[in-house]
Amino acid sequence: MDKIAICGGKPLEGTVEVGGSKNDAVAIMAGALLIAGKTVLHNVPRISDVYTLLNIFQHLGATSRFREDGALEIDASRLTTSEAPQELVRQMRASFNILGALLVRFGQASVAMPGGCNIGARPVNFHVKGLEELGAKLTLEHGVYLGRLRRFRGANIYLEFPSAGATQHLMMAAACAQGRTVIENCAAEPEIVNIAAFLNACGAHIQGAGTATIEIEGVPELHPAEFSIIPDRLQAGTYSIAAAITGGDVFVKHARPEDCRPVFSKLREIGVEVQELPDGVRVRRLTKRLAPVDIKTMPHPGFPTDMQQVFASLLALAEGVSLITETVYENRFRYTTELARLGADITVEGRTAKITGVSRLMAAPVTCTDLRGGAALVVAGLAAEGVTEIDGLDHLDRGYENFVPKLRSLGASIKRSGDANGGLQVCSA
Ligand code: EPU
Repeated sequence: MDKIAICGGKPLEGTVEVGGSKNDAVAIMAGALLIAGKTVLHNVPRISDVYTLLNIFQHLGATSRFREDGALEIDASRLTTSEAPQELVRQMRASFNILGALLVRFGQASVAMPGGCNIGARPVNFHVKGLEELGAKLTLEHGVYLGRLRRFRGANIYLEFPSAGATQHLMMAAACAQGRTVIENCAAEPEIVNIAAFLNACGAHIQGAGTATIEIEGVPELHPAEFSIIPDRLQAGTYSIAAAITGGDVFVKHARPEDCRPVFSKLREIGVEVQELPDGVRVRRLTKRLAPVDIKTMPHPGFPTDMQQVFASLLALAEGVSLITETVYENRFRYTTELARLGADITVEGRTAKITGVSRLMAAPVTCTDLRGGAALVVAGLAAEGVTEIDGLDHLDRGYENFVPKLRSLGASIKRSGDANGGLQVCSA
């Protein structure tokens, strides 16, 4: 089992490039299954969730390859089965979004309930209800959804909560429906806007993505297109926070300020300069100790639930008491017990974490509990005194491409045990 070792205390300096967005890539890839042709995607991150999805595609009969120029080609011209492999589907959340595409291609499908980070119950009832409203017949048998469909028919759908996954899934299904679909109370994340743009590039007629109401005029079929994944706003936030916690000075290249507004606004509020430059932001801490702040996670454009963990590491060193209230997931504080091992004073009651800032964090062995919780530990380790060892890296590999090399290029003393240069010796002293 690989481990990361970090000798904390080095200010990060230089330029880091933000890669393509995980959540955009996996959703658009699911969309590519709708198309009997070759889709070309640029800026797809080389992360394990992408490879898991490609393995699922291979099982379904689609072929794929990363070209020499880095673009990902997915050829879904000839699919051979509508049964998705359960053990792979259960490794990630976005795999469930292939259900609609398989129904369109085969008129039937079998897709297990998905997996993903253990941060709450994460049901799929909004997906199921929406697909049924569009005309699919779905039954759940032994943890697997079995579906049948003649053709999706346009419908008026109201989402009980602005679910990112359900909005993506239903938008894709409705793109190929007969007639007009209106989805209300939609998620409005930048990824939703880009997925709609991808589908439109393939011939769909979707309007309103990025607002609470999306209108879709169905078309008989979509055609292939070449398209780019947007820069990952969660990586951008993570590197910005890493710069701030180490008192460094980092240019976060390709960060799009308009996608990161809630995080950058809180960073500024606590004493971090986030300077918007062409093609990125420069991040610097302005004071020795940062101010505390209260955060409440909300659907976009509120503060993203995916950033509360990494932000908590920063607030662990603030001067005063901060409260983080998590409203999107019921169990996204598992990482706090690990953060406490590093000396953070953090207690959780219900959906709120109380963080009383301490003057220093101290290294300890810790374990990633989930993807963003793992990133929080890496960021905390960058600031902790001594050598922090982190295991459970499969979580991190799901969403951060070249995390360790990128941080090392900014001057961090960080190593991964599987690295070519081997060993975990990171401190010269
Ligand atoms: N929900 C339901 N029923 C559903 C769908 C969602 O009750 O059918 C609930 C969820 O349990 C959760 C809330 O609605 O409490 C929001 O879930 P949402 O559907 O928006 O999340 P998701 O699509 O499963 C995506 C990202 C997550 C991110 C959320 C929220 C992907 C692959 N995942 O998940 O990303 O936290 O949106 O923004 O796009 C991450 O990147 O670390 C990550 C977990």
